[in-house]
Amino acid sequence: MIIAVDGPSGSGKSSTARGVATRLGLRYLDTGAMYRAVTWSAVERGLDLDDTEAVAERARELRLELSTDPADQFVVADGTDVAAAIREPELSAVVSKIATNLEVRKELIRRQRAIIDAAQPTGGIVVEGRDIATVVAPQAELKVLLTADQDARMARRGAELAAGSVTAEQLRDQIVRRDADDATVSEFQVASDGAVTIDSTYLSLDEVIDAISRLAKEAETRD
Ligand code: DC
Repeated sequence: MIIAVDGPSGSGKSSTARGVATRLGLRYLDTGAMYRAVTWSAVERGLDLDDTEAVAERARELRLELSTDPADQFVVADGTDVAAAIREPELSAVVSKIATNLEVRKELIRRQRAIIDAAQPTGGIVVEGRDIATVVAPQAELKVLLTADQDARMARRGAELAAGSVTAEQLRDQIVRRDADDATVSEFQVASDGAVTIDSTYLSLDEVIDAISRLAKEAETRD
């Protein structure tokens, strides 16, 4: 079984997708972490992020070890544990440059499909991203588009605010800018055929996990 969970940043898709995987005993793949790991590597090598060919080459060469265990997530890039580094605000600010590089996408989509295939004998996988239902795995048994209004998405990134690393103004700017950057890749956040849209603005994490788990059970019995 494949469950695709697509949505914008701050829609709660990571906690949701991981929660669903844990609840249903499935594997879990965070595809955003792959784009982030390529970005980390390109920055670390001092590459010009606008040099699309050099960055694409880096994506093809990068050794990436990514856990699909929802209870034990790790991201290792060329032997370095980058789980924390890929969440740094400086990296988040430039990742969409890498995510809009079509050759990088081609390479990462190829790897994502291999990970998804490898998980099938174990029962299946919950895959979170932007283009999972539309491009990576249109055959998914369940496709969820998770949304939330801008204020809710800001509130969920409140920890960064509380830590004083950004102001509310900066946070809103970041969210608006990243939405705009992400929107430049056409297949992003387009509801695919048969996708269920869940607006999580007024729902708790548990309620969203419940709803998706129920839909997954229905999808399973339909097959
Ligand atoms: O979900 P996230 O914030 O970790 O994603 C990081 C970046 O990667 C963001 O710019 C969107 C992009 N992304 C993508 O283009 N396709 C995906 N399947 C997942 C993430």
